Amino acid sequence: MARINENYLKLQAGYLFPEIGRRVNAFCEANPQADVIKMGIGDVTQPLCPAIIEAMHKAIDEMAVKATFRGYGPEQGYGFLRDAIAENDYQDRGIDVTADEIFVSDGSKCDSGNLLDIFGDDNVIAVLDPVYPVYVDTNVMAGHTGGASENGRYEKLVYMPVTADSGFEPELPTEHVDLIYLCYPNNPTGTVASRETLEKWVSYAKEHNAIIFYDAAYEAFISEADVVRSIYEIEGAREVAIELRSFSKTAGFTGTRCAFTVIPKTLKGTCKDGTEQLIHPLWNRRHCTKFNGVSYPVQRGAAAAYSDEGKRQIADLVAFYMNNAKLLREGLAVAGFQVFGGVNAPYVWLKTPGDTSSWDFFDQLLEKSHIVGTPGSGFGASGEGYFRLSAFNSLENTEEAIARIQKSVATSV
Ligand code: MLT
Repeated sequence: MARINENYLKLQAGYLFPEIGRRVNAFCEANPQADVIKMGIGDVTQPLCPAIIEAMHKAIDEMAVKATFRGYGPEQGYGFLRDAIAENDYQDRGIDVTADEIFVSDGSKCDSGNLLDIFGDDNVIAVLDPVYPVYVDTNVMAGHTGGASENGRYEKLVYMPVTADSGFEPELPTEHVDLIYLCYPNNPTGTVASRETLEKWVSYAKEHNAIIFYDAAYEAFISEADVVRSIYEIEGAREVAIELRSFSKTAGFTGTRCAFTVIPKTLKGTCKDGTEQLIHPLWNRRHCTKFNGVSYPVQRGAAAAYSDEGKRQIADLVAFYMNNAKLLREGLAVAGFQVFGGVNAPYVWLKTPGDTSSWDFFDQLLEKSHIVGTPGSGFGASGEGYFRLSAFNSLENTEEAIARIQKSVATSV
């Protein structure tokens, strides 16, 4: 009899977004006439930029000719893309990251889970609450937690609550932790951490020999000049942090798949006997063994995001979504909601009215206004009483959603 990984049985319900999809499908089947506006999962709606499409077409044409055809590429990513990333995202901004510290992959979600392969099973793991569910679920799958309690929190994980009362800034853990997941600009709250907060985290990690997984997938949406874009802007971070970035939201690659992870060559972990071990060769070994690289046309497309034209077109794309975020923030405030985020991130995080639970608000919004959002409690116990709306949509849908919410509030008072 083949034994299964019983850690999977500890996972609660389905993964959040498929669960929302299931509920929405049931609603649509029962109400086929309803014009449902989907603002749940943060999935892009605009097509790829012309500069990217052009580069991909050209790469496909190269694949059609013997002289320019390519088979397996380097697992870590083609030099042309790693160089472009290092130069544009880091070196031009005065940040010390070299091309050979960049590992191109098919997604930050995959990388954040896969990274656990190269770390031990007895680390103490800290996550924010609310949190992107993948960080938690992949640790459950790997057997790093106990079972879930009634409020959905897993034993053995250290949860760091972030709520409006604390300005969405987590307190440092009072106990020792080894691995820390930080995500800024934050999913789901859409808020950012101050430079001082990130400095505190880097010092904590240094003091505790801990490693920070810094998920900066939404970096491109930062609009305020003083907001930290990369953890490596913080002194000492090269000794304690891994950074994850993605083309998914930045350049509309959710269906195209391309991301990257930075592993500084100065980052070390420890063996059981206390000897230090560089992390870079471990990740390189893992990547080469379990991954064959992102396809050539996709990497050519990603590299085109750094051409002058590509940069201009992507800036327009980001501005388009951030205008939706602004309209949502303003429109919801007019409707009387307390609203957070949406300034440096494409997510707006709102407080549900009175003591309405997140899932009750989800049902009300779907049934009354035919709008889908994401219940805050789906991101963790401290997300209860909050709700996330995504700005990834058309302008028409965003305006229509705001009008429906305002109307629904006006008719219910
Ligand atoms: C989200 O809605 O939180 C994201 O789209 C999920 C993801 O990037 O995997």
